[in-house]
Amino acid sequence: MTRRPRQAPPEPDAISEAEAAAELARLAAEIAHHDRAYHQRDAPEITDAAYDALRARNAAIEARFPALVRPDSPSHRVGAAPEGGFAKLRHAQPMLSLDNVFDPEGFAEFAARVRRFLGLAAGAPLRLVGEPKIDGLSINLTYEHGKFTRGATRGDGAEGEDVTANLRTIKSVPQRLRGPAPALIEIRGEVFMTKADFLALNAAQEKAGERLFANPRNAAAGSLRQLDPRITASRPLSLFAYAIGEASEAPATTHSGYLDRLRAWGFAVNPLSRLLADEAEAAAFQAGMAAGRAGLDYDIDGVVYKIDDLALQQRLGFVGRAPRWATAWKFPAEQATTVLRAIRLQVGRTGALTPVAELEPVNVGGVLVSRASLHNEDEIARKDVRIGDTVLIQRAGDVIPQVVAVVTERPRGTENFVFPDHCPVCGSLALRPPGEVVRRCTGGLICPAQVVERLIHFASRPAFDIDGMGDKTVAEFHAAGWLSGPADIFRLAAREAEIAAREGWGALSARNLVRAIEARRTIPLDRFIYALGIRRIGERNARLLARHYARFPDWRAQMLAATTVGSEAREALGSILGIGPAIAEELADFFCEPRNVETLDELAALLDIVPAARGAEADSAVAGKTVVFTGTLETMTRPEAKARAEALGANVTESVSKKTDFVVVGADPGSKARKAQELGLRVLTEAEWRALAQMT
Ligand code: IVH
Repeated sequence: MTRRPRQAPPEPDAISEAEAAAELARLAAEIAHHDRAYHQRDAPEITDAAYDALRARNAAIEARFPALVRPDSPSHRVGAAPEGGFAKLRHAQPMLSLDNVFDPEGFAEFAARVRRFLGLAAGAPLRLVGEPKIDGLSINLTYEHGKFTRGATRGDGAEGEDVTANLRTIKSVPQRLRGPAPALIEIRGEVFMTKADFLALNAAQEKAGERLFANPRNAAAGSLRQLDPRITASRPLSLFAYAIGEASEAPATTHSGYLDRLRAWGFAVNPLSRLLADEAEAAAFQAGMAAGRAGLDYDIDGVVYKIDDLALQQRLGFVGRAPRWATAWKFPAEQATTVLRAIRLQVGRTGALTPVAELEPVNVGGVLVSRASLHNEDEIARKDVRIGDTVLIQRAGDVIPQVVAVVTERPRGTENFVFPDHCPVCGSLALRPPGEVVRRCTGGLICPAQVVERLIHFASRPAFDIDGMGDKTVAEFHAAGWLSGPADIFRLAAREAEIAAREGWGALSARNLVRAIEARRTIPLDRFIYALGIRRIGERNARLLARHYARFPDWRAQMLAATTVGSEAREALGSILGIGPAIAEELADFFCEPRNVETLDELAALLDIVPAARGAEADSAVAGKTVVFTGTLETMTRPEAKARAEALGANVTESVSKKTDFVVVGADPGSKARKAQELGLRVLTEAEWRALAQMT
């Protein structure tokens, strides 16, 4: 900011009204300038004290002349100004993802699972809606009394970015719903760019010397996430609506009914969507879509199939973050051939050595691929892959590309790839236990590769979810010697100034990182367990453990006790439904290593670990209780009963013990019912259970 030399400014209490007006205008501009320098450019020009003095002066003058307070007064902005990003918006109902299938067998399994869950006969009709799976980005639009009030990206599923102003510029987003509308409704759909619009946009970008987009999906995402809505307005974006989230009144009883309502309200619904009578019709639909795919003017990567009957959808519910009532049947992988230049070994979080092919970069279905997975030692041998070979690679969905096969006669002189028996990172012995395909580094916590991978996992979204603590940051801080274990993450606050001084950082990003870390000192037990990165303890198993043991100290004590083979704690652990003896052994192994327990205790001292089963669940009469189902249930299937019980915070186990709270007995009960009687446990009929679990 250039400034002419000025006389010392008059004191606020000696200032005239005319001077005050001019001074408030000057202060507004000067403070806005420093806000930008600090928050957007990350390059403050004055000390915090000098900045505070400017704000204090502004406030003092405003206090004397309230009539002169400007619409753009700095005092209207509290503390930190918008940090150059979007505000967060919480979805009234979470936005979920979909499970994928890739072939007729996968789809048949989906249908069979649905029937099993609902207790339907194998051939019973299953009405589905098939919709092209648009390759764009999903958004959530909120309408109040028919008026579009706000819209957000999917984000992490619970909250997304507020892109309302940008969505208002898209023609196919109705500002008002046509005809009668509920008081409140969320509409979900996909924002995308047509192939033709994408090509034209890239041509224009190139002419203007701007960066090019890799594919229509990236172009749509980049265009919607613009801070200046005028840029979004200049980009040709479209929307197909395909679902309803929260609604103050039910708009229909079937999914196809939903789609009709969406059309009537003025949304574009994909015209290729079809109501299908059964799987045979679905398979025919899939084949038709795969054949027609290339001729469409927008990218699709598969077909989404949804159970049409919303009452059935309701019963089926969700598992993890995906509905049981829908699946995405992806198109076959896109393939290409290229030359394999080298084989590199990656060391994972659990020490697994994974061979990765370094490739001559090649375009596979619109994505430039330069690496592909070779899975493991045996696969390399089976496919006889050698350096210098021309190989067939493929991309299936979002997973890492894979080497499928060697495709050409190889040049002479290529040698077999010899898999090393030492870790390429730390040099420790790499062992392959008999019967396993994976060779693992035995370096454990002394292997830097494992430490870094474990820390990345620890901070990742489903674990501690620390914003800004991704793989690059973890590797950087590890290399700096600041992170040798997860507890060190919570000691980074003391290094804020050092972080800020690093290249590529700065005061704002350092502060944001420290804030993000502090925000995660309180952590639910299931996320905590998952974050530890114990083999085979994924999100689902971590949830099962957290539900079962509820409190961190109880879990810790029981796991230590379970290290003794044959102990009661070990038996109990192995009999949690979904855990089993093999996983119990994995947990016991983890707790046998004193360094792991030390790390755990170090973390526990720094964190507030929240017990499992809270909120609505905790209110349920069955929350935290251990339940066994036995005999034939009549009004629901086993999986349905189990899912419902778990959703209410109960633990479902297979075997009856004195720790069991309820034994629900269906028709033809066997030994479990007898044992329950002997132990004097509370035995419930199916009807009594339904009442207790509030299954109406
Ligand atoms: S339904 C719970 N329908 O696919 C149901 N999703 O893999 C969730 N998508 O995040 C979505 N076309 O971005 C649905 N016709 C369609 C879709 C569709 C594309 C995307 C959407 C979602 C992702 C899940």
